Amino acid sequence: MTDTSPAARGSQDGREVLTNRQGHPVHDNQNQRTVGARGPATLENYQFLEKISHFDRERVPERVVHARGTTSYGFFESYGTWGDEPISTYTRARLFQEPGKRTDVALRFSTVIGGRDSAETARDPRGFAIKFYTEDGNWDLVGNNLAVFFIRDAIKFPDVIHALKPDPVTFRQEPNRIFDFMSQTPESMHMLVNLFSPRGIPADYRHMQGFGVNTYKWVNEEGVTHLVKYHWMPKQGVRSMTEEDAAVVQARDLGHATRDLRDAIDRSDYPEWELLVQMMTDDEHPELDFDPLDDTKVWPENEFPAKPVGRIVLDSNVRNFFAENEQIAFGTGVLVDGLDFSDDKMLVGRTFSYSDTQRHRVGPNYLQLPVNQARNAEVRTNQRDGEMTYYVDDGGQSPHVNYEPSITGGLREAREPSHDEQGPLISGRLTRKRLPRTNDYAQAGQRYLLMHDWERDDLVKNLITQLSQCVRPVQERMVWHFLMVEDDLGLRVGGGLGIAPEDVVHLEPLPDQNLTDEDRERLATLG
Ligand code: HEM
Repeated sequence: MTDTSPAARGSQDGREVLTNRQGHPVHDNQNQRTVGARGPATLENYQFLEKISHFDRERVPERVVHARGTTSYGFFESYGTWGDEPISTYTRARLFQEPGKRTDVALRFSTVIGGRDSAETARDPRGFAIKFYTEDGNWDLVGNNLAVFFIRDAIKFPDVIHALKPDPVTFRQEPNRIFDFMSQTPESMHMLVNLFSPRGIPADYRHMQGFGVNTYKWVNEEGVTHLVKYHWMPKQGVRSMTEEDAAVVQARDLGHATRDLRDAIDRSDYPEWELLVQMMTDDEHPELDFDPLDDTKVWPENEFPAKPVGRIVLDSNVRNFFAENEQIAFGTGVLVDGLDFSDDKMLVGRTFSYSDTQRHRVGPNYLQLPVNQARNAEVRTNQRDGEMTYYVDDGGQSPHVNYEPSITGGLREAREPSHDEQGPLISGRLTRKRLPRTNDYAQAGQRYLLMHDWERDDLVKNLITQLSQCVRPVQERMVWHFLMVEDDLGLRVGGGLGIAPEDVVHLEPLPDQNLTDEDRERLATLG
């Protein structure tokens, strides 16, 4: 039968015809239907109502953190080795096994605190979240550009984010609120020394590192586990901005990093990062002065070398920002066989939080969206229905059997678990306790000493600028912490604020602070 619909007849100039979502051609997209040229408008005008009511619903809630971001696609290529050893010695994850094996990826870069239209020049950690679409289902590695974090227990996350976000009354980001919280949170010192250094404003997304930050595990064929940390090193090099550089860029462009990344990919200048992995045996490591499950610490590279395992290349941009960047959903619980969690208390909390927020933010069927689907694995579940279901994995031959077990058909459990699921034997009392080896200052001090002179100068200047907007008790406590981190840092920041060591020596350690012997000696010298 010949299709004589207006859509099939085409538009006046041969371009494709505009329709509504019901497939009805739109003959007039400029004028509402009204009684006479001057109105009133009629309410039965389906075309107008569909257009305006869909527009009214164009937004979903932005991410509660990391709202501003951009996504690109590419591939991960495995080297098949961890340094000189076959990678299979440590992990059976299939994406890593063969040298040269490629896996599709999506990578979303982001800033943390600002809203989705905020400036990309902010002093803020940058997100570095990767979705690997592996043959065994998806693996998400949700990291940042700085190697450590502000806190080590997920229960403090809403507080640290509230302190960093705008004031609930004035809606201004307030240094006094930020440093009020940090001054009571000594584990944040290592992060602050990084964040207020030039590393706190990466030049753009292509010139920054990425870190998994939390401690994960690798599992081999025999079920032997190792603790691992992930690092991404940009082939483009690392570049940062000072506040002055950032002000110049920001005056021209609020989205310079998104533009830089998209433009590079469009001109086939594909950015690349190498993945390096640090590893240690899966135990408490009492010989270390920090806990391997503490994400405010780095693992010294001389003891735990970071060895290359593969590379990632980004070679295409999203076609639709909303569908592929706003709706993409990463989570630390999304792992494949051969990769595992550790008991890192941040990681465990994060693993609940991501899918929880995504069910709220995107909807209960967020995993049906193309960008989130496990596109290189087979997906068959007995999940049904819910808001915006469009995809039913109906078990093929048995669409009536959406339950299991059944003798009539439907999906079956996989025959044997491929590996023994017997996990470690854990015993202990239920308790609320911090990790015993907190050691909040030593690594922050080492980081400070490792900086170039200009980086130290920039750090000190940035801290003074921020802290001069804080009340005196907050300033004093921060100077006290910085003296504990490294004399020079405390003296210089204190000097800029008019606070001498004598002004803060009377301060007691915070009530529940675990000081090391070294910290106590430092405290004694302060006194
Ligand atoms: C995004 C929670 C710590 C990296 C998010 C989101 C939540 C969240 C709720 C929004 C997700 C969405 O709407 O899709 C938490 C909690 C943490 C924590 C509860 C601590 C317990 C961290 C740490 C890192 C990190 C330590 C870095 C290793 C990211 C990144 C994103 C993100 C990169 C953006 C993901 C994207 O691009 O969609 N986080 N987070 N978070 N978080 Fe965390």
